Amino acid sequence: MQRTTEWLNDDLDYAYHERQFDEPYQSTLAFCAWLEQIGAMKPDAVSRVLDIGCGQGANLFYMQNHFPNATFTGIDLNPNLVARGNAIYERHGLSRARLLSGDLYKLDPEVCRDVDCLVSFQTLSWLPEFKRPLRSFAATRAKWICLSSLFFDGQATCTIEIQEYDENYQEKGKGFCNVYSLPVVEKFLLSLGYGGLQSIPFEITIDLPRPSHKGLGTYTRRTTDGARMQISGPLLMPWYFIAARRLSDTKT
Ligand SMILES: C[S@@+](CC[C@H](N)C(=O)[O-])C[C@H]1O[C@@H](n2cnc3c(N)ncnc32)[C@H](O)[C@@H]1O
Repeated sequence: MQRTTEWLNDDLDYAYHERQFDEPYQSTLAFCAWLEQIGAMKPDAVSRVLDIGCGQGANLFYMQNHFPNATFTGIDLNPNLVARGNAIYERHGLSRARLLSGDLYKLDPEVCRDVDCLVSFQTLSWLPEFKRPLRSFAATRAKWICLSSLFFDGQATCTIEIQEYDENYQEKGKGFCNVYSLPVVEKFLLSLGYGGLQSIPFEITIDLPRPSHKGLGTYTRRTTDGARMQISGPLLMPWYFIAARRLSDTKT
């Protein structure tokens, strides 16, 4: 099951994508800092980055400014997002990134060759399951696979299918918001030739108010030890950053 049509709806939330250009999410900043910390990205290196499920390219917009010698390709199923993102890059005179329409299940080997770091921001949990996408990521033979999504450091994977409703409780879009067992994903990545899994929970450092509407949208609640839980609608959002290296590279 690949379920790609839900990403091509006309009622797409462009504001979600656009506001990140002006103000990158805290998770984007933290993820990029973590990539540097673990050595997946080096500040001045001439590296090639592939962003799968890049949306409108706001994360690559930030990365272009942050990693001055790297080049970037973003791939997203939605051609409208891709066109809008490329137009923003052009307006800002940014030439080290391009966005392409494409399906992560049918990646073009030519586009995906010689990749140093494959990133995917908040996309894996929004796909029906993790195996087919990770197989596709691994088939690029990127040196690193690094992503942010929802994980549980234990013995359960939760497949959560969301049916959203409008304010009159008429059916709106459907989608997934899955939480994957980290050890099981680690084992699977190993079977694909990617090891040394590193992971870190992403804990937001600002309070986000609960939206006034009754739909989805992230907000925070403090626990008694001061940590912030992220919640969206009825769901807890256990964010993690994870990264694995291609094993054939680590041996050389
Ligand atoms: C939750 S959004 C995340 C977007 C972006 N990475 C961000 O951080 O804002 C997931 C993205 O994955 C894209 N996507 C979903 N299925 C895809 C597929 N089969 N191939 C390529 N992109 C896909 C969607 O169009 C959407 O832009």
